[in-house]
Amino acid sequence: AARVFSGVKPTGHLTLGNYLGAVQRWVVVDQHRADALFCVVDLHALTVDHDPARVRRLSRQAATLLLAAGLDPERCTVFVQSHVDEHARLAYLMECTASVGEMRRMVQFKEKAAREETAGVRLSLLTYPALMAADILAYGTDEVPVGEDQAQHVELTRNLAVRFNGRYGRVFVVPRATRPPVAARVRDLQDPRSKMGKGTVVRDGGAGVIHLLDEPDVVRRKVLRAVTDRGSDVVYDPDERPGVANLLQVLAACRAEADPAGLAAGYASYGALKRDVAEAVVELLRPVRKRHAELAADPGYVDGVLRAGAERARAMARPRVDAAYEAVGLLPVG
Ligand code: TYM
Repeated sequence: AARVFSGVKPTGHLTLGNYLGAVQRWVVVDQHRADALFCVVDLHALTVDHDPARVRRLSRQAATLLLAAGLDPERCTVFVQSHVDEHARLAYLMECTASVGEMRRMVQFKEKAAREETAGVRLSLLTYPALMAADILAYGTDEVPVGEDQAQHVELTRNLAVRFNGRYGRVFVVPRATRPPVAARVRDLQDPRSKMGKGTVVRDGGAGVIHLLDEPDVVRRKVLRAVTDRGSDVVYDPDERPGVANLLQVLAACRAEADPAGLAAGYASYGALKRDVAEAVVELLRPVRKRHAELAADPGYVDGVLRAGAERARAMARPRVDAAYEAVGLLPVG
C-alpha cells in the first residue's frame, strides 16, 4: 500500500477549507486505500506568536475533530507531532540539507513574515518547511494529500529528499502531493481573492470563514452574506467571478461532484445558489458536530487514541531517522 502522511496545524479552529481541501479525502479515500498517518502538527503552531493554553486546547480539538470527521483509528494512525521525537530530530538534518535562500522563497514565509515586525519573526517560521519535510520523509511517505497552499512546501520536500539521497545514499522516498478534484483552494467568503484560513486576520467579524463547529444558523448567515461578483447570472469563471466560482466549488465538493461548471447551469440567480450551498454545508457538518460533541465528552478516549497513535508512529519513523543520522556521518551509539 502507498504510505500517506498529512497534517493540520492547531493555530485556530478548523475551517471548511481544511475540510474540503484535505480532511474529507483523508476520510473518504486515503485511510481506506493506504497505510496512512494523520498528524496534529503542534510544533508548527509555535512558529508564530502563540498562547500556550490555546495551542493545547486547539490541539486536542483538532484531534477530536479528525476523529469526528471519520478518521478511524483502526484503519489509520492519528497522533500529535510533539509526541514523536523523530520529527524534531529529523528536522535538524533537513535544516542541514536546505539553503537559507530556498526557505526565504517560500510564499507562506513571505506572507506571514510581512505581517509581523521583522524583529519579531520567529526563526522557526523561516525553517518551518524543514520540519514539514521531516514530518513527511520520516515515514517513507509516497503521497501527501493537501490543499493547493501546501503544494510549494511539498515540492521543497521533494527537492530535499532528492538532494539528501544524492549526497548520502538513498534513505528517503521522494513523495508527491495529491489534491482534491475541486476545492483545493476554498476562498474567504468576504474576500474571494484570498484563501479561507483559520489564522486569517478576522475580517468583518470572521464572516468569511466557516468553522467546522459553527452552528447551522451561523453557517447559513455566513453563506447568504458571501460576497458575490458583478452581474447576477450564475456562470463558472474563477478569474472574473471568484466569489460565485468559490460557492460553486464548495457546492460541488459537498456533493462529491467534480464539476462546478456543470452546476452553474442549474441556477438562475445568486440567491438560489447561496441557499443550496448553505444547506449543503449545514448537512455536511451536521454529523461532524454531533460526533465531536460525543467525543469531547470522553477526553480519555481521545487521549488513548493519540497515545496508541504516537507509539505506532514512533515505531514507523525510528529506523529511517536512525538511518539518516548514520548516513550523514553521525557516530551511532556503540
Ligand atoms: P494547515 O493546518 O494550514 O491546513 C491543513 C490542510 O488544509 C488545507 N487547507 C485548505 N484547502 C483548501 N482550501 C483552503 N482554504 C485551505 N486551507 C487549508 C491545507 O492545504 C492542508 O492540507 N503546513 C501545513 C501542515 C503540515 C503538513 C505537514 C501537511 C505540517 N506538516 C506534512 C502535510 C504534510 C499547514 O499549515 O496546514
